[in-house]
Amino acid sequence: EKGGYEHFMLKEIHEQPKAITDTYRGRLLRNEAIIKMAGVEDNMKKFLNANRIIIVACGTSWHAGLVAEYIFEELARIPVEVEYASEFRYRNPIIGENDVVIAISQSGETADTLAAIKLAKSKGAFVFGVCNVVGSSIAREAHAGAYTHAGPEIGVASTKAFTTQITILTLMALRLARAKGTISSSDFRQHLLELELIPNKVEQALKSDAHIKMIADIYKDSRNCLYLGRGFNFPVALEGALKLKEISYIHAEGYPAAEMKHGPIALIDENMPIIVIATKKGHYEKVVSNIQEIKSRKGKIIGIVTEGDTQVRELADHVIEVPDTLESLSPLLTTIPLQLLSYHIAVLLGKNVDQPRNLAKSVTVE
Ligand code: F6R
Repeated sequence: EKGGYEHFMLKEIHEQPKAITDTYRGRLLRNEAIIKMAGVEDNMKKFLNANRIIIVACGTSWHAGLVAEYIFEELARIPVEVEYASEFRYRNPIIGENDVVIAISQSGETADTLAAIKLAKSKGAFVFGVCNVVGSSIAREAHAGAYTHAGPEIGVASTKAFTTQITILTLMALRLARAKGTISSSDFRQHLLELELIPNKVEQALKSDAHIKMIADIYKDSRNCLYLGRGFNFPVALEGALKLKEISYIHAEGYPAAEMKHGPIALIDENMPIIVIATKKGHYEKVVSNIQEIKSRKGKIIGIVTEGDTQVRELADHVIEVPDTLESLSPLLTTIPLQLLSYHIAVLLGKNVDQPRNLAKSVTVE
């Protein structure tokens, strides 16, 4: 059942090229240069008239929501707020008929997310569900939705659910951008083309596995770990830190790279590994100067870089390459090495990666 893999988590990490393909299949029609999503099409007016989109989710799904915030705002120019479902529901949120609420949930059963959409519905908002489990409570409660086609995710640490959620949300943003006219037809086509190339590029990124395992062995006994990223890759830093915490029990924090100097920089010494997402485009030069600041404080630098990068390679202790792509799609690639890094650290430490202590696959308690 683990398909020859030692753990479900590793199997699911390796299933991502297929899961992403399955998620855009039938929706991304490159030859016709269109995106077809019934749940969006049927409710186009609601989306186009929306004052804003509010995304509600928990955990890794909340991180996918944060990535989506950057993508929706960049491509479709719709204001987006991303809320922890548990905070949203308990604070008497200001919400009405011209709001669109997107709930993101792998299991479709997360109690706080379910309660958040019930509340939003009661205030007249239109609710769209992005779930993986077909027929789940959130999928049924939403007015409309789109399923991720990741297949069953068994490992408690979410991996392929995250990348397929980003895939769906990217398709939605592109579809809405086209409808609103906020993207040119050539840009739109380029996005479709690049999105279709992602599964192969994920496959490429997975090839760094042995190199990542070697890095994991060097840093597995660290007590703390910092993850930095900017823009589209800031949420990836948060997700990388969450993955490490939940399965290896090493304390980790994700931060927007530029926030480092506002506090976390005080933590940096020769015992602190810092994973920096420093792919080309996306404020690359600024991230490189962050890396220089880390280096001068003797922090250990693991750079996630674009293939062929030389600048970060010179400064960093290690680099892990991912293929080049559009900046907006880069989270689909930069996430991969972070999943593998936490997987290998947890395995080397002898932890139960598929069933970490204190965690459940679906959180149906509040
Ligand atoms: C992290 C993880 C959790 C879930 C969260 C939401 O790896 O698995 O943080 O992402 O409990 O779960 P869903 O997406 O099922 O609502």
